[in-house]
Amino acid sequence: METQILPITDESLILASKILNGGGLIGMPTETVYGLAAIGTMGEAVKKIYEVKGRPADNPLICHVHKDYDLNKLVKIEQEYVYRLIEKFIPGPLTMVFYGKGVISEEATCGGDTLAVRIPSHEGCQRFLKFIDQPIVAPSANLSKHTSPVTARHVYNDLNGKIPLILDGGKCSGGIESTVLDVTGKVPRILRAGLITKEMITSVCGACEVAEHKEGDKVRSPGVKYRHYRPNCETALYSEEEYGEVIKLYREYERLGKKPFVMCGGKIKQKFVGLNLLDLGDTPEEIAFNLYDKLLEGEKLADIIIAVAMPDEKGVNMGIMNRLKKSCG
Ligand code: TXA
Ligand code: MG
Repeated sequence: METQILPITDESLILASKILNGGGLIGMPTETVYGLAAIGTMGEAVKKIYEVKGRPADNPLICHVHKDYDLNKLVKIEQEYVYRLIEKFIPGPLTMVFYGKGVISEEATCGGDTLAVRIPSHEGCQRFLKFIDQPIVAPSANLSKHTSPVTARHVYNDLNGKIPLILDGGKCSGGIESTVLDVTGKVPRILRAGLITKEMITSVCGACEVAEHKEGDKVRSPGVKYRHYRPNCETALYSEEEYGEVIKLYREYERLGKKPFVMCGGKIKQKFVGLNLLDLGDTPEEIAFNLYDKLLEGEKLADIIIAVAMPDEKGVNMGIMNRLKKSCG
């Protein structure tokens, strides 16, 4: 199978619809990362997502709908704060986990009683979702465990020959996956950190918990227990204070005749002048935007990516650190 990359036009949307309604998969852009899409009510198609990615069968998928879709068709909205979250952050990089109504195939929910729903803000994605006008389930469009794709080319590099079509919506503006928020309880609870931060949710809901995943816990968001986002090269992760260790490891690799790269953002860059650098930018938003792109660039250039952690886990840094620990830690 030859994988086509096409811009989003009337013609490519007709082709996408044919493929999806025929039980196939396509790559779709969103503002966070690219997704591997199937129609959420087609169990056999959904199964293919798990096969193509090599995804563990107990990790449920997020359901994507356009902004005029009636969420009540899919889920039970039980908490009043949900309406404020929708008003403030949706469409956007926030996924909410509700009790479901059994509309989406159990292959996508892994037989659980909850459903994760997201309304992306990406204009091309909205156009696509509106055109299909059915719930679309989609995980990130990478091979399981690999770094998530933020361009159509990244999707192609992982899935060429496995899917017929990737809709090209440019480089994702967000750069890390959506915040996953459990909205079944009195207080919303972050299951996966992202660009909609704990602070932003607290300002709208009055409170916000962050699920802690300790060894041996029953995990509510199964995806967070796996190793994730890993580039195909060696990696290491150090705190900013350990910049001396970064340089030491870098020199050790050089001595071995190997090619090390330091990956970092912000002021700490100044400590690594003259070294091979994967520059993530300066603000947390820039760093999130560049993170996966730099990991995927780095795996081609480097024998080892030596990453430097964010100075704290406040705001967007919580989501960045979650990805850095899994990809490089
Ligand atoms: O930004 C995103 O969320 C991207 C784009 C494509 O929308 N999608 C994405 O999907 O990151 P994926 O499959 O890579 O990650 C979905 C996360 C996983 O951690 C999964 O365990 C969690 O959402 N999840 C899905 N359904 C859930 C549910 N019913 N309850 C709790 N967690 C759920
Ligand atoms: Mg993923």
